[in-house]
Amino acid sequence: MPGIIPAGTNKCERNIAVAESQIKLYYKNVTAEVIGPEHGVTASQLKALAERTSPIIQQLNKERQAGKTAYRDLPFNTQIAQQVKELAGRLKGRCENLVVLGIGGSALGNMALQTALNPYMHNLDEAQRPGPRLFVLDNIDPAQFCSFLDWVSDKLDKTIFNVISKSGRTAETASQFMIVRQLLLDKLGPAGLQNQIVATTDREKGTLRKIATDTGLSCLEIPDGVGGRFSVLSAVGLFSAAMCGIDIDSLLKGARDMDARVSCEDFYKNPAAINAAINYHLYNRGKKISVMMPYSYALQGLADWYRQLWAESLGKAKDLTGNEVHIGPTPIKALGATDQHSQVQLYREGPNDKLFTFLQVNNFDKDIKTGPAPDCAPELGFLAGGDLSTLLNNEKKATEYALLKDQRPCLTVVFDKVNAYTIGQFIYLYEVTTSFAGALFGINTYDQPAVELGKEATFALMGRSGYEKLAQQIRPSAEVDADFLV
Ligand code: PA5
Repeated sequence: MPGIIPAGTNKCERNIAVAESQIKLYYKNVTAEVIGPEHGVTASQLKALAERTSPIIQQLNKERQAGKTAYRDLPFNTQIAQQVKELAGRLKGRCENLVVLGIGGSALGNMALQTALNPYMHNLDEAQRPGPRLFVLDNIDPAQFCSFLDWVSDKLDKTIFNVISKSGRTAETASQFMIVRQLLLDKLGPAGLQNQIVATTDREKGTLRKIATDTGLSCLEIPDGVGGRFSVLSAVGLFSAAMCGIDIDSLLKGARDMDARVSCEDFYKNPAAINAAINYHLYNRGKKISVMMPYSYALQGLADWYRQLWAESLGKAKDLTGNEVHIGPTPIKALGATDQHSQVQLYREGPNDKLFTFLQVNNFDKDIKTGPAPDCAPELGFLAGGDLSTLLNNEKKATEYALLKDQRPCLTVVFDKVNAYTIGQFIYLYEVTTSFAGALFGINTYDQPAVELGKEATFALMGRSGYEKLAQQIRPSAEVDADFLV
């Protein structure tokens, strides 16, 4: 594999481009010093966590060197970035609309990158758009899909459909693909089908790979061993990003630089180890819910992406030795300041069962000052002439203060700026934090048996051959009992 860090590199000492901004994890506000010993982490507990987690740092570094965590090699894989850039370069000139067909790990990363790194009005305002419009269709709601097809049907020759499925057998993505395939065949013929679809899937296995080979589609590969929710830094997320003008080299560089920090064997210098250890400790002390609350519109897609990463990786019935544990923090997304007016009442006065992680941006890309107060409303003078960024960041501080008053533990991930480099850092930080948390919980971080059963049950309900027995088992719960319908 190209560009992998050689075994034995002392990653704590590898040079990071310090001139560029590093995201930081701030954890003082989970400590007992701030919120008291009942809900906070005491100094001796932190020391015990360091002792418990330090061997896991070594274990994860070894697993990584042994090629067991393939997602960690993605930022170093120059080949993928090259292939993505070449294909994007070939297609960009004739693409006004890029449509991603995928779900879960094959969609959330694309949305997160786009929301973080392109302007809010990207799709509507050509002047703000460095590439095609981007639509990520991660659902099969027929009304939504029909509305989209009505809009796109006369633009098919200027639209690229990127169908993404690692397994190639996901019913939602397959059905979307079959609709689009027929539309393209009807309107543009077989050549149109070949020209307008890019398939991102496993190197050799699966139905989508078979279709792509048979039809002669342009293809991008998802490397072996990279699961959907850990795939955003593969072609899964990089292609739509590159097409839409995102600097994927900086994104990958951010991830590489974070790799040095999260491989560091000194617990106190390793943000992923500390983050996971605090999450693990507080979960075991009753904080079963983990709220990620960005104070930035741009970062809210990352909170959605994190929800999947955390939930699918850590929500498990059994531990590694087969004991039933039914474990896993429940990840929730909130948005500051919006959800101050929706959720914070519960967060402060409801059960003290949550750990909050704020995402804070110190320097926004753009800023705007509030106008003067109307003469009839001098009481608004305190807002007059102030930057919106100052108001937003003060609202974060104010909410955090209010939560701390009620002994609610708060972490903050601080972004100096939001750019491809810091977003790459954040993605990699949370992927590796998830690996640490999985190891601390003693579960398999990388499987998702419960999701698989739902996929198979869908096959059964849709009459797929080979699933007849499962269809029988599902019938009692799938049929509506009118006695219970009110
Ligand atoms: O993380 C995962 O593995 C899942 O969320 C998958 O990404 C999702 O189920 C889609 O699977 P696929 O890419 O195989 O169509």
